[in-house]
Order: sequence, then C-alpha cells, then structure tokens
Amino acid sequence: MRVPLIAGNWKMNTTVNEATGLVRAMRDELDKITDVERVICPPFVSLAPVKELLKDSTLKLGAQNLYFAEKGAYTGEISPLMVADLCEFVIIGHSERRHYFNETGEIVNKKVIAALKVGLKPILCIGERLDENEAGKTEDVLTGQLTSSLNGIDNLDGLVIAYEPVWAIGTGKAATGEWANKTIAFIRQHIAQLYDEKVAQEMRVLYGGSVTAANAAEFMQQPEIDGALVGGASLKATEFLSIVTQTSVFSTRK
Ligand code: 13P
Repeated sequence: MRVPLIAGNWKMNTTVNEATGLVRAMRDELDKITDVERVICPPFVSLAPVKELLKDSTLKLGAQNLYFAEKGAYTGEISPLMVADLCEFVIIGHSERRHYFNETGEIVNKKVIAALKVGLKPILCIGERLDENEAGKTEDVLTGQLTSSLNGIDNLDGLVIAYEPVWAIGTGKAATGEWANKTIAFIRQHIAQLYDEKVAQEMRVLYGGSVTAANAAEFMQQPEIDGALVGGASLKATEFLSIVTQTSVFSTRK
C-alpha cells in the first residue's frame, strides 16, 4: 500500500508573516488527517520560522529547490545540507525551473543525487509541454526526463515522482483523471524497466497541474495516482484542507 501524499508548492508567494499565518490557519485541521502524508513547501526564507510552528505537528516541510554542491562560493544558492537541516522533502526539476532557469536533465540529475545523499526525499517533477502533447510525444518526453534525471542512481530511497503536464500548470486546465491515471501508469511501467517491479509498485507518483478542491476527487479516485502536487490551491487553507480530506476518503476505498 502506497501512503498518499499531498504536497503544497507555494512557489514564489508569501512573506514570512503571510507564510506563518497560512500555516497557523491550516495546521491543526491538517493534523487530524493522519492517513495522508501532508507536505508544505514555502519559500526558503520561511522554512525556519515554519519549522518552528510545526514542532508539535505531523505536517511535513519541503523546499522548492536546492543547489547540488555541498557548500562554497555559489552566491545566492542553498545547499542540500542546509535544506536537510530543515526539511524532509525537496521539489526538484519543476517545469518552471527547467524553463525559466534553464535547468537541464543533467542539472536535475545532479540535484537528485545530491538530495538523496543527505537523506532528503526528492519530489522529482516531469511533464510534457503542450506542443509535445499535441505531437503525441508525451511518452518520449517522460522517458527521456526519467532516464536523464535518474541516471546513475541505484537506490531511489523515498523519491517521489510528480507528473505535471506543463500545459496544466497554473492554467486552470487540469488534465482529466483518466489521462493522468494512464500517463502515471506509463511512468510506473518505465520505472519498472529502469529498476524493477517492486521499486515501481512502491514508488509514489503524484499528479500536478490545476488541482483544486473542485477536481481533486477526479484524480484521487484513480488507482495509479498517489496524491497531488498542488500550486495555487495550496495557498488557501480551506482549499488545501479539502484536497487532503478528499484524498483521505479515496485512499480508504482504493
Ligand atoms: P497549479 O496547481 O497552480 O496549477 O501549479 C501546479 C504546480 O506547478 C505544482 O508544482
């Protein structure tokens, strides 16, 4: 049985004050839902104050990125050790980083290796663009991203995959549950090829892209979908709580 996971990617939103306010608004209710792993990923500057607020909570913390070097002269970067000091999870290879910050498969691979080395659980994001989707290249894109991101990694130790089709991110045009389920089944099949069936069956694969309280049920009832990486809707306490609650309901039915 794979434990469902809902992660909130706050992206570049919230000041420290706003972040701690948002955590206060949802922490206690989220703590009641124990059969879903709940992770929030605020901006770097809020990680320490939010961690303080989560001292007695089962809510987990993730970072949105890291640099692969351990320390040194890399002005403005945050190392895996710094992230591991505060967080259990780290988002790696988000499409916004691939597209706006030119992160290549090779860079994503170095980041995944660096994260695993310090015991962080990477949430590795993969997904095709609209033009790739329309050209029928989704499977090729996903296998390419998986192969390059996981190059040379024998032990995936807690790594989570997030399938986030670029065309569904922040657009309000979510994939259908059926499409996401079918594509995630394909991802799992490719993991079985790269590793083995056991690794594939234990691997949690999330869907991300315009998930809201209104459409969460469509995704969470799918057998292949183990949770969601939520952007915009994770910035609203009631929306995020509703997504987690619905995930809990469906997890008991799967
Ligand atoms: P939205 O939920 O805002 O579409 O963002 C999805 C995402 O990119 C999560 O990482």
